[in-house]
Amino acid sequence: MDARIEFFRHSLGPEEKARVLAALDGVILTTGSFTAEAEQALGDYLGVPHVVCLDSCTAALHLALLAHDIGPGDEVIVPAMTFVATANAVLMTGAAPVFADVDPRNGCVTADTVAERITRKTRAILPVHLYGLLCDVEALHALAQRPGLALIEDAAHCIEARRGVVRPASHSHCACFSFYATKNVTCGEGGALATHDARLAERVRRLSQHGLTSTAVERYGQTYKHWDMDELGWKYNLDNIRASLLTPQIRKLDQRWTRRRALAAEYEAALAGLPGVQIPEVLDPLWSARHLFPIWVERGRRDEVLAGLQARGVGVTVNYRAVHLLRYYRQMLGHQPGDLPAAEDIGERTLSLPFHPQMTSDQVQRVARAVEDTLAKGKLRTARASEGRSRMAENA
Ligand SMILES: Cc1ncc(COP(=O)(O)O)c(C=O)c1O
Repeated sequence: MDARIEFFRHSLGPEEKARVLAALDGVILTTGSFTAEAEQALGDYLGVPHVVCLDSCTAALHLALLAHDIGPGDEVIVPAMTFVATANAVLMTGAAPVFADVDPRNGCVTADTVAERITRKTRAILPVHLYGLLCDVEALHALAQRPGLALIEDAAHCIEARRGVVRPASHSHCACFSFYATKNVTCGEGGALATHDARLAERVRRLSQHGLTSTAVERYGQTYKHWDMDELGWKYNLDNIRASLLTPQIRKLDQRWTRRRALAAEYEAALAGLPGVQIPEVLDPLWSARHLFPIWVERGRRDEVLAGLQARGVGVTVNYRAVHLLRYYRQMLGHQPGDLPAAEDIGERTLSLPFHPQMTSDQVQRVARAVEDTLAKGKLRTARASEGRSRMAENA
């Protein structure tokens, strides 16, 4: 392979860079007009009236739970197939994460896998739109009709997708987004919460600034005003410098989503029929934001494929191993292999291929051939090794 194909490359260009310089030229470096502008842009894109920018999706999930008064003694249902942040945010409130299994066709929780886990203590359902695929939010919304049960979406992978009229935050109490370094919109580290509920947004905003009654700009903007503190909050606000990168990227969301959909279709065609490779199901191209392009290989061969691709200059990663079997969660909750079989199976077989809008069709073809080559060479090695073993047995 002639040149390394990176797993991810950001698309920040001259427009975004000029905006950072403009933010640096201003007086307010902390949360201010650039943050407000990004909140407006994301709200406009989603068709949601209230957006609060925060310094990560983890912070958004944490505050979404706190703003629903979730804490010790409560349970929150999370997928076993997700990044640890989803479950960690629950622990940060003192509540207990309860892991649900996922659909073996696509890795997302379903109303059935969630319903099995609901108890009297359940206070929230926290679905994850894995790889960008919007879960069946309408079915989850129907489940969450009991008073005191919140539906909070982990939309870290999914700003763009739509299933008919359903979009992130359209049928839930709120949706939480990530602007982490490899996300579809990035400012290095950042996040946001979107909601139709003005009071929820206001409480989250306050909780993101220590629980203070006014923001820094309000306190020091024109004439000094005294502030008070209503409740204990965290320090999760997003500054103007990072927020300045967001608005131009939000405006380019659909254009870049179209490009990723085309690349995903090219990957699917190039990998179609390859023995030992399964591609997670996306029934309608618009249902997925196409944040990642994972493949699921034969059980027992994932790490060999990871190594083979890296040796061929292809950047890869794993999204994700099942969370309930990570040491900390296993020790705390006593989970065993076999508890959540679909999530575990995906966690053993999944790897993510390079995927970002700047990729070329030629790179997609090269990655697909590298996958094919790695799998074929591995098979050949296994066949030779077993031939050698039988010869040794014959000669013994
Ligand atoms: C599914 C999921 N949820 C939550 C997060 C946390 O996002 P952040 O890094 O912005 O806190 C991530 C980040 O990778 C993620 O992939």
